[in-house]
Order: sequence, then structure tokens, then C-alpha cells
Amino acid sequence: MSAHQETKPPSPLRSKMSKMRLEGKVILVTGAASGIGEEAVRLFADNGASVVAADIQDDLGRRVVASIGTQKVCFFHCDVRDEKQVEAAVKHAVEEYGGLDVLFSNAGIIGPLTGVLELDIDGLDNVLATNVRGVAATVKHAARSMVARNVRGSIICTTSVAASLGGAGPHAYTVSKHAIVGLVRSACSELGAHGIRVNCISPFGVATPLSCNAYNLEPSQVESNSSALANLKGIALKTKHIADAALFLASEESAYISGHNLAVDGGFTVVANQSFSFSDSG
Ligand SMILES: NC(=O)c1ccc[n+]([C@@H]2O[C@H](COP(=O)([O-])OP(=O)(O)OC[C@H]3O[C@@H](n4cnc5c(N)ncnc54)[C@H](O)[C@@H]3O)[C@@H](O)[C@H]2O)c1
Repeated sequence: MSAHQETKPPSPLRSKMSKMRLEGKVILVTGAASGIGEEAVRLFADNGASVVAADIQDDLGRRVVASIGTQKVCFFHCDVRDEKQVEAAVKHAVEEYGGLDVLFSNAGIIGPLTGVLELDIDGLDNVLATNVRGVAATVKHAARSMVARNVRGSIICTTSVAASLGGAGPHAYTVSKHAIVGLVRSACSELGAHGIRVNCISPFGVATPLSCNAYNLEPSQVESNSSALANLKGIALKTKHIADAALFLASEESAYISGHNLAVDGGFTVVANQSFSFSDSG
């Protein structure tokens, strides 16, 4: 009998335990009211975590939390552009649930879609304020809390395929998403000494209010555009795939992974998107 045939199916107890991959962890999610952040809050809660869901859309955020319906998930108003509000969100996690183990710094905006020749410099500042200053503030205050309490935590930031390629997003957005990769690597270099991991996730285009509104597309059109460009066929990118990547980086399954940029892009950023194929070349 081969080793493969000897593998036993998981016992019901084991499969229940493995579902709870975040039991006992406290997680702060920014941009939690919608899209990828909302999906992550639901998945984290489903895996046993206590979650502070932070956003500027108070009504929507409260509705998301109410629909999950557990004391282990709460909404907290936090505009990541304001460092004091970020500090307060981290403090809230500590007061409400006793500490902070994981940060999912996910809040982001796409900004104007103009070309370089019409680049709105104030608009660029605006994108950087949320996507770079905001993410930096969350990393700073989450790391402070983790270091102060000796927590071997996990910090996860949402960047984008636009951090790996030019032309995969608007200019200011691309600048901001490259900066997040730099921030992640830089913070990783220092926080490893405290046992804190710092990683980021690069999603490809996924149907959320951000992508649909920016490009005036229906969710199905966002999905089919990404499917057409991705190398991996026969599957459409959903927010669940990105939340699954965040779950992995939040859990102990990624205990030795730090400074990594995890692309959830069906191979879009690593395979030349050309019709040329070696098999056609004779
Ligand atoms: N949707 C995509 O195709 C895609 C692709 C790559 C990366 N991303 C990134 O994923 C992240 C989540 O975006 P999404 O697609 O889920 O969009 P979304 O618009 O559905 O969610 C973003 C959330 O961030 C919140 N937010 C915006 N500014 C904020 C601020 N200053 N403080 C706190 N919260 C704020 C919004 O209120 C919203 O709830 C962003 O960083 C985005 O750049 C998205």
C-alpha cells in the first residue's frame, strides 16, 4: 500500500479544530465595512478570532458586525488618515479583547484615473494619505502594542498587482501600492527581532465597490476582465480567495514567513500576457 493510500480521512474532531485556525487571536481589520475587508472579518470570526472591524463607513460597518452576530466582533470608527484614530483603534482592541495579535491593514482608495500629463498632484497626496500614511500609522501602532506586550504577532497589508507592474492601476495608486511593499520590507527588517511577521497581499482585480465604481463596471465585468488576463483559467477571483490568503498569513501556518508579498492574481504578474507561445514557434 502506498503512503498516499495510507492517509486517513480527518476525524470530525480534527476537522473542527483545523477550522478554528485563529482561536484566541485578536485582530484589527481596517477597511472592514466592504469588499475584501468585510470578507476577512467574516472569515476571521468564523475561525475563532476576536475582531475589531474599523472603517469610516459607520452604518455599513455596524451592519456587517450585526450580521455576524457575536460579541467577539465589534465595529470601531477609524479614519486611517488620522493617526490618533488609528492609535485609538489599537487601544480599543486591547481594552475590548485583551491585546492585539494580528493587524490586517487593508483600507485603501483608488483615486483619480487621469494620465500622467493631467496628474492631479493634490489627488496624489490624497491617495498617499490613505494608502501609505494610513497603512504606516496602522503598522506603527499595531507594532507598538505587540512589542509592549511581547506578542509574536502578524502584520498583513493589502497592496495590489499594481505594486509589481506599471500600468496595472492609476498612477497615484501604483505609487502608493509600491510604497506599501517598501514599508512591509522595511518594517519586517526591524520587527523580526521581536518575533513579529510583516507581509503583504497583492490581489488582482476583484469585484468590490472600489473596482466597480472606479471603472464603472458590473461585478461580473470585473470578474471576466480579470479572468481573461490571468494565467490561471477556469476560476474567477472572489474576495474569499484574498481573505483566505489573509487567514493563512494571520494563522500559525505561516509562522516562518515574513517580508513576503503574496500575489493572489492567478499568475497575472509572473507570466507575460502575450499571445506568443513556444509551442507555436515550430
Ligand atoms: N478590488 C480590487 O480589485 C483590488 C485589487 C487590488 C487591491 N485592492 C485593495 O484592497 C483593499 C480593499 O479594497 P476593496 O476592493 O475591498 O474596496 P472597498 O471599497 O470595497 O473597501 C475599502 C474599504 O476601505 C474603507 N476606507 C477607505 N478609506 C478609508 C480610511 N481613510 N480609513 C478607514 N477606512 C477607509 C472604505 O470605507 C471601504 O469600506 C484596498 O487597499 C485596495 O486598494 C483591491
